[in-house]
Amino acid sequence: MSSDSLFSPDLISSEVAAALPEGYTIRPLQKNDYHAGFLDVLAVLTTVGDVSEQDFNQRFEEMKASGTLGRGAGGYHILVILNGEKKIVGTGALIVEKKFIHSLGQVGHIEDIAVAKDQQGKKLGLRIIQALDHVAEKVGCYKTILDCSEANEGFYVKCGFKRAGLEMAHYY
Ligand code: ACO
Repeated sequence: MSSDSLFSPDLISSEVAAALPEGYTIRPLQKNDYHAGFLDVLAVLTTVGDVSEQDFNQRFEEMKASGTLGRGAGGYHILVILNGEKKIVGTGALIVEKKFIHSLGQVGHIEDIAVAKDQQGKKLGLRIIQALDHVAEKVGCYKTILDCSEANEGFYVKCGFKRAGLEMAHYY
């Protein structure tokens, strides 16, 4: 694996890559993506805050190190979609949680799905979810779960998810 990739590019579905619009590509997050518009895309989702390149690099290394612990590919799988100009226009994350239950099972958590405003409606969100589902299956998750607003429920239903349970939170 390239030392600049957050996780192995082998985990990216070739079928999903082939289904992208002409000129678009999909790959794991890389360390130099600070300069490719990664944080700008996340700002579509929520407040990103003032993150310097040094902050970004440190967080990248922390995430990458957590993926090298234990068997197989655990940890953080953040992927990005780039347009023909190599600008990041979409992103999504799969975090793999290791458990004792279900015979040392693993659960995938889908987080931080974002598509640039001017790129929405081109099925990029769907491709991101399909690509994360593929990673989850390949690394051996028995299920993948996520939290979303009522406004996004229809999108996730179109991606094959169904409502299950209720989210609760403590904010600190
Ligand atoms: N409600 C209902 N249906 C939707 C919605 C919605 N909010 N958004 C998209 N869809 C439908 C589309 O119409 C399409 O349907 P079709 O197959 O019948 O044509 C299908 O879902 C796939 O849509 P995409 O084109 O892949 O969606 P897009 O690329 O625009 O991405 C996303 C959707 C990720 C929600 C995007 O609008 C976005 O970035 N929103 C702002 C950030 C956000 O809310 N992210 C999700 C947070 S939840 C989380 O991260 C776990």
